[in-house]
Amino acid sequence: MDFARLWLGLLLPLVAALDFNYHHQEAMEAFLKNVAQNYTSITHLHSIGKSVKGRNLWVLVVGRFPKQHRIGIPEFKYVANMHGDETVGRELLLHLIEHLVTNDGKDTEITHLINSTRIHIMPSMNPDGFEAVKKPDCYYTKGRENYNEYDLNRNFPDAFEFNNVSRQPETEAIMKWLKTETFVLSANLHGGALVASYPFDNGVPATGTLHSRSLTPDDDVFQYLAHTYASRNPNMKKGDQCKNNMKFPNGVTNGYSWYPLLGGMQDYNYIWAQCFEITLELSCCKYPREEKLPFFWNDNKASLIEYIKQVHLDKMKDKAFMKPLRIKSLPDAWVTVPGHEPYLTKVIIEKKSQNFSALKKDILLPFQGQLDSIPVSNPSCPVVPLYRNLPSYSAATKPGLFLLSVTVLHIFFK
Ligand SMILES: *[C@@H]1O[C@H](CO)[C@@H](O)[C@H](O)[C@H]1NC(C)=O
Ligand SMILES: *[C@@H]1O[C@H](CO)[C@@H](O)[C@H](O)[C@H]1NC(C)=O
Ligand SMILES: *[C@@H]1O[C@H](CO)[C@@H](O)[C@H](O)[C@H]1NC(C)=O
Ligand SMILES: *[C@@H]1O[C@H](CO)[C@@H](O)[C@H](O)[C@H]1NC(C)=O
Ligand SMILES: [Zn+2]
Repeated sequence: MDFARLWLGLLLPLVAALDFNYHHQEAMEAFLKNVAQNYTSITHLHSIGKSVKGRNLWVLVVGRFPKQHRIGIPEFKYVANMHGDETVGRELLLHLIEHLVTNDGKDTEITHLINSTRIHIMPSMNPDGFEAVKKPDCYYTKGRENYNEYDLNRNFPDAFEFNNVSRQPETEAIMKWLKTETFVLSANLHGGALVASYPFDNGVPATGTLHSRSLTPDDDVFQYLAHTYASRNPNMKKGDQCKNNMKFPNGVTNGYSWYPLLGGMQDYNYIWAQCFEITLELSCCKYPREEKLPFFWNDNKASLIEYIKQVHLDKMKDKAFMKPLRIKSLPDAWVTVPGHEPYLTKVIIEKKSQNFSALKKDILLPFQGQLDSIPVSNPSCPVVPLYRNLPSYSAATKPGLFLLSVTVLHIFFK
């Protein structure tokens, strides 16, 4: 420990530590604005839209270049409180923000994370629901839904069947956001159970529903991601902590196996935004008393940080837009770009590498000349379920934009 810095730290505290209370909209806004003011160079606060009652849907971005996408820096997001009465994630994300900004330049791991990742944090997707619940309650209350009484996690277009619902402003805001940022990895924080759940939440026989599950072609990656989170949470990993009949081996489950649902956000992220999203259920009690919040922070802090790091995992990203393309087998990687011949390349990974270090490989596609003449159009959200088009391919291999060259990022976790 460097004494000069220690003393400086004691004399000039930049932050009055965030308390472990629930922060209602006004207090949450004040905190986020404060952070954005105190840490201008690494944060960017913006609202992606408004709730039914006109509350801002705040997102704080943390990163070395927080204002816009940079080549080589992938986009990551956390979204909490989409069910207004599931409150733990909301407070955990505020604490995560504080932890990130106050450790920049002090803690090597966090500094590296901020240097190499653009981290988008949305503490509340359903602020109206949160405000509608008057006091802590472990079970379902009306604040689960938005002000128009729609369950937002049933409100997205569905990959497998037509979801005939009136699209809510909170959902529209997320859909628009997913078009403006090229997210690679995400988690969606809930409560009422203790498990990391991965896509699909809905399905058809081709995805395994006859066997009571619904798996993506990227099931190995999703299982790895869910385990990354659950295994670092001492209670989640036990798998049966909520004293109900449901056992989740190692604290992980496929969404459909748990129970099928239509119009969920994680399936939407994967199919329409090529973003790998899992759903984290963080507390048996949906809205626990504030005294419990330090316990939840303690149980989830390591997982929250480790999960962000996975954005650097085994992905190929195009240089222009950082869309991931899955590599099926290393060291030989097939690079596929719609409308062009697949391209085979060799990727050499050195054995003795650090755990958290990415290999970057630029691959210049041989048909670059042709791409120049193709106009870039924005991918629009198809009305017809997409799944029929991707029986055995990763949704992440369906980029809506064109590639000029690609980058391989691979993390060494073996
Ligand atoms: C921001 O800085 C002010 C003034 O130093 C301090 O009072 C406040 O607690 C800080 N807030 C945060 C969230 O860092
Ligand atoms: C992070 O980036 C800063 C400035 O760009 C650099 O000085 C620092 O060495 C980097 N730190 C780590 C741990 O990557
Ligand atoms: C969608 O729901 C509305 C209202 O319930 C109904 O009138 C309409 O026929 C439904 N459309 C389809 C295609 O199911
Ligand atoms: C890599 O991970 C292993 C096991 O988790 C750990 O023992 C080792 O110290 C890590 N190495 C580095 C360079 O972080
Ligand atoms: Zn929920």
